[in-house]
Parts: sequence; C-alpha cells; structure tokens
Amino acid sequence: MRRRGIFITLEGIDGTGKSTQFRLLVDSLRRRGLTVCATREPGGTETGEKVRGILLASKTRRLAPLAELALIYAARAQHLEQVVRPALARGEIVVSDRYNDSSYAYQGYGRKLGVEAVRAFDRVVCGATQPDLTLLLDLAPRKSLDRAQGRETRRNSRHGRFEAQGLAFHRRVRQGYLEIAKREPRRVQVVRVGRPIAEIQAEIEGLVDEFLRQHLGIFLI
Ligand code: ADP
Ligand code: TYD
Repeated sequence: MRRRGIFITLEGIDGTGKSTQFRLLVDSLRRRGLTVCATREPGGTETGEKVRGILLASKTRRLAPLAELALIYAARAQHLEQVVRPALARGEIVVSDRYNDSSYAYQGYGRKLGVEAVRAFDRVVCGATQPDLTLLLDLAPRKSLDRAQGRETRRNSRHGRFEAQGLAFHRRVRQGYLEIAKREPRRVQVVRVGRPIAEIQAEIEGLVDEFLRQHLGIFLI
C-alpha cells in the first residue's frame, strides 16, 4: 500500500469551465467509492477565503504584484498545512480547483513577475507537495472571457479583478500555461474545451482513470 494519496489539479484561464468539470470529476470519483478531498484556491480554508476576498474584490486597487503573489502563497501555506497534506497523508485523492500553476501563469506571466520569483515562493511553501496530474483546460481567452461574462450576468454579479484584466493579460496567462505543459508533458494534460461539457467530462475521466490505473493499479470501470 502506498502511504501517500494522489494530488490532481485543474487549471486554466477564467471561464474555461474548471468549476464545472471539477464538480463532475469529484462526483464521478466518489460514485466509484474513492475518498476524495475536494478543495480550491485561492481559498480552501477560513484564512484562505479571506485572502480570496482581498484578491478578487474589484475594490482592491493598487495591490502590488509581489504583494498579490505573497498573499496567494500565504493562503497556499495555510491550505497545504490544514487541508492538502493531511488528506494526502491519509491516502486520499485530493482534487483542487487551481493550485501553484495558477501562480506561475497569472503572477509569473500575466503580471510579468517571471517564473523565478514564483519558484522562490514555491520552493519554500510547496516544496515536494507538487501535483501528480494536472488537467489544463484550454480555450482562446476571447471565448473563455465571454463564458465568464455570461456566468456573472446570470448571477447578477460583476467581473472580479482578474476577469477585468482584459485580453492581453489573459493571452499571457494562457501562453504561460501552455509553456508549463510543454515543459512537463507527463504531468500536465491539455484538454481542449471549445466543445460540449459531456465530451470534456469523458476525456477528463479517461485521463484520470488511466493515471490511477498506472499509479495505483485501480480499475475504475
Ligand atoms: P471557470 O471555473 O473555469 O471560471 P465555469 O465552470 O464557472 O468556469 O464556467 C464558466 C461558464 O461557462 C459557466 O456559465 C458554465 O456554465 C459555462 N460552461 C462551462 N463549460 C462549458 C462548455 N463546455 N461549453 C459552454 N459553456 C460552458
Ligand atoms: P477562480 O475563482 O478559480 O476564478 P474562475 O472561476 O473565474 O476561473 O480563481 C480566482 C482568480 O484567482 C482567477 O482569476 C485566477 C486568480 N489566481 C491567481 O492569480 N493566482 C493563483 O495562484 C491562484 C490560485 C488564482
């Protein structure tokens, strides 16, 4: 028996359907009898949700990019200590809606802080707790921002700080994600999401099944 659980993350720019696919994946794993710790960033803990409030509120102005990065890693340290590492130690499957690739993509590329600044925080805070499998939901920013806009309109809410950044910012973020995927093709699986939800769900389940079969010898059919 392996002592350590499995760490799966979902990533992508805003509006690519991460939250939708996250819920579907967690439900499907649970239906198969697996113990899943479902969590998200920024957030995942009481302190983390407070930091999320600061990061996403459109009224938070003039937050220096390095302050943003430090806040995100503060929330991540809490999340790791309180939620992720204990669940992994219990042998659970941790599924997180965003994790450290978001920081490389948004702060490193989007905010132009560079990969090295993010890596410095990451070494200290995350250390060896890196995702085993990352599903990168990929869509052109023009389309994904339309989807995010549609969601906010239905909820009668407004764009948050990141969604309000505009196309050029999200193009850099997407480019960052795709470069990470190119550097780590075994860990990061790119899933194209310009198609129906059920098709994407089937591809993701296939990728996760294959991963669990290879790493745990679990057959999920
Ligand atoms: P994210 O968490 O990545 O921001 P969401 O899951 O909240 O994305 O999806 C954003 C919006 O797009 C929602 O209104 C959702 O219903 C819709 N959506 C999700 N997946 C698809 C899809 N494959 N095709 C069209 N619309 C989608
Ligand atoms: P989220 O609620 O997942 O947004 P969405 O559902 O619209 O995709 O995430 C909130 C925002 O936080 C998102 O715009 C990206 C940003 N973020 C970072 O900039 N860096 C990070 O490390 C994380 C985890 C999130």
